[in-house]
Amino acid sequence: MITKVLVTGANGQLGKTIKELYSTNEDEIQFSFTTKAVLDIAIKDRVEEFFNKNNFDYCINCAAYTNVDQAERDTKSPFDVNAEGVKYLAQICKDTNTVLIHISTDYVFYGNKKEPYTELDTPNPINEYGKSKLLGEQHIQKISQKHFIIRTSWLYSIYGNNFVKSIVNKLQEKLELKVITSQKSTPTSCIDLSKFIYFLIKSNCVYYDTYHFTAIGETTWYDLAIQISKHFPQYNSSNIIPVKAYNSKAIRPLYSVLNNSKAQQLFSKKCDWRKSVDEVVKTLIKNQ
Ligand SMILES: NC(=O)c1ccc[n+]([C@@H]2O[C@H](COP(=O)([O-])OP(=O)(O)OC[C@H]3O[C@@H](n4cnc5c(N)ncnc54)[C@H](OP(=O)(O)O)[C@@H]3O)[C@@H](O)[C@H]2O)c1
Repeated sequence: MITKVLVTGANGQLGKTIKELYSTNEDEIQFSFTTKAVLDIAIKDRVEEFFNKNNFDYCINCAAYTNVDQAERDTKSPFDVNAEGVKYLAQICKDTNTVLIHISTDYVFYGNKKEPYTELDTPNPINEYGKSKLLGEQHIQKISQKHFIIRTSWLYSIYGNNFVKSIVNKLQEKLELKVITSQKSTPTSCIDLSKFIYFLIKSNCVYYDTYHFTAIGETTWYDLAIQISKHFPQYNSSNIIPVKAYNSKAIRPLYSVLNNSKAQQLFSKKCDWRKSVDEVVKTLIKNQ
C-alpha cells in the first residue's frame, strides 16, 4: 500500500532537502510538496479545502516564519504562521486521521541551563520567534494525539539562507569576519534531520511524542566558522575574529543544546556535527 506524505513549506531549506532526497524514491512512500503559494497554512479555509480535496497519511510541516530578528517587530505574523497556522494543520490532521510531523526549535528554551535540554525540561522562550513556536507545539499537543514534534537546532543545508552557506560565501570572498562565541548549540544538517523524519514514516513508528533531534556534540558560532574555514586553506583563519555578541534585535538563548537520547532510542544513527558540516561545505564548494 502506498503511504502518502504531504510536505508543507517545501520552498524552505528543509522542504527542499526532503524533496532532493526522497521525491524520486521508488518505494511505497509518495511525497507531495506544497509551497506557501499553493498552501498557505495561515489561511484556515485554504488548509481545510486542501485536505478535503487530497488524502494524506502524513503531513510534514516545514512551513514556518523563521526570521528570528524580524519576529521581534513583526509580532503578528510569526504567531499567524507558527501558532495559528500550526493549529489549523493540527485540527485538519486530526479530522482526517493524518499523522502530523512538526518541526520545532531549541529556541523554545531560555538558555540558562548548563547541560543539554531534555524533552522533560520546561520551555521558556526568550524571544518572539520562540514564543510563537512554543504556542504551535502547545496547539498540537492539545488537539491531536497522532503527532511527532521534532525540536532541532541551527539547521543548515545547501539551500536558502543559513549560517554555513553565508560563511562559505564570505570565506570565498576572503572577507574578514566577526563571529560570536557566547551562544552554544548544535549545528544540524537538513540531510540528517530528513533521514530521521523519513525513518519515522518508513518504520511506521507509533511512538507519537516530542523528540529532540540534532547532530551529536555542541559548539559556538565561532567554532563552527573555524570548522568551515578548514576547507579554505587559502583563507587565513585569524581573520575570523571572535566577538562576545552581535547587536541583533532578538535575544537568543546562550545555551540551547538539546539532549538527543530519546530520539536515539528509536534511530541510532549518530551524526557528528563536524562530519555533517564537512559534507555540506564540500557540496557547496563543488557546486560553485
Ligand atoms: N533554520 C534554523 O536554524 C532552524 C532551527 C531550528 C528549527 N527550525 C525549524 O525548522 C523548520 C524548517 O526551517 P527552515 O530552516 O527549512 O525554514 P525556511 O528555510 O525559512 O523555510 C520555511 C518555509 O516556510 C514557508 N512559509 C512561511 N510562511 C508560510 C505559510 N504561511 N504557509 C506555508 N508556507 C510558509 C516559507 O516560504 P516563504 O519563504 O515564501 O515565506 C519557507 O519556504 C521550521 O519549523 C523552523 O522553525 C529551523
